[in-house]
Amino acid sequence: MSEQMARLNAIHLEDQSMVEIIEHPLVQHKITRLRDKNTGTNEFRSLVTEIATLMGYEALRDLWTQEIEVETPICRTKSPVIAGRKQAVIQILRAGQGMIQGILSLIPTAKVGTIGLYRDPETHKPVEYYCKLPDPIEERRIIVTDPMLATGGSAIDAINAIKKHGGKMIKFMCIIAAPEGVKALHEAHPDVKIYIGHLDERLNENAYIVPGLGDAGDRIFGTK
Ligand code: PRP
Ligand code: URA
Repeated sequence: MSEQMARLNAIHLEDQSMVEIIEHPLVQHKITRLRDKNTGTNEFRSLVTEIATLMGYEALRDLWTQEIEVETPICRTKSPVIAGRKQAVIQILRAGQGMIQGILSLIPTAKVGTIGLYRDPETHKPVEYYCKLPDPIEERRIIVTDPMLATGGSAIDAINAIKKHGGKMIKFMCIIAAPEGVKALHEAHPDVKIYIGHLDERLNENAYIVPGLGDAGDRIFGTK
């Protein structure tokens, strides 16, 4: 068993099947590049997009399909296509924005929602400053994106807001998570499946993920 799977078991979640770590070597390789403090903004941004695509492939495994008729060069047959266009991707600003294109490359007709949150530097609690969601949201299958799940406060608040607007079928996708955030998010929203690129060790005294990758927003947008 990998170190991160052992770490996940140690959290003792109510329903561990609601958490999936994408342990694919391509995802893990790209996360290592993200962690490197010498990886520049341009490469960092591209890697976040690529990881979101690879993780999205797994998170969209249960997309609804329907059979249509198609004529091959050999004969007529029935074959599946994605059913309906009822997808939404909801980005938590700022850093969640970096994952959007990666997922839209898989489901280009998805609507995009935005929730603006920042962590207060003193309290580490999320503060909401913007919310614009596809309307109506009830029937859409929703993926919420944020590269970092640290204390879980931002994800919990964003999903509270989505549910308040009527959102029901919600998944959460992050690139790096801390055990503390996974536990808190699962306890607050046990119906939300959490997809993780890598489950790290812990939070430090500033509620940053260790070893993590630093401040995801700053590294995507080159603001530090
Ligand atoms: C980061 C990150 C998450 C949040 C995670 O955002 O993108 O939204 O912190 O931390 P939490 O799980 O403890 O809530 P930040 O507040 O740095 O804002 P930014 O994306 O605008 O940089
Ligand atoms: N937000 C980040 O960007 N990084 C962390 O490690 C924790 C919260």
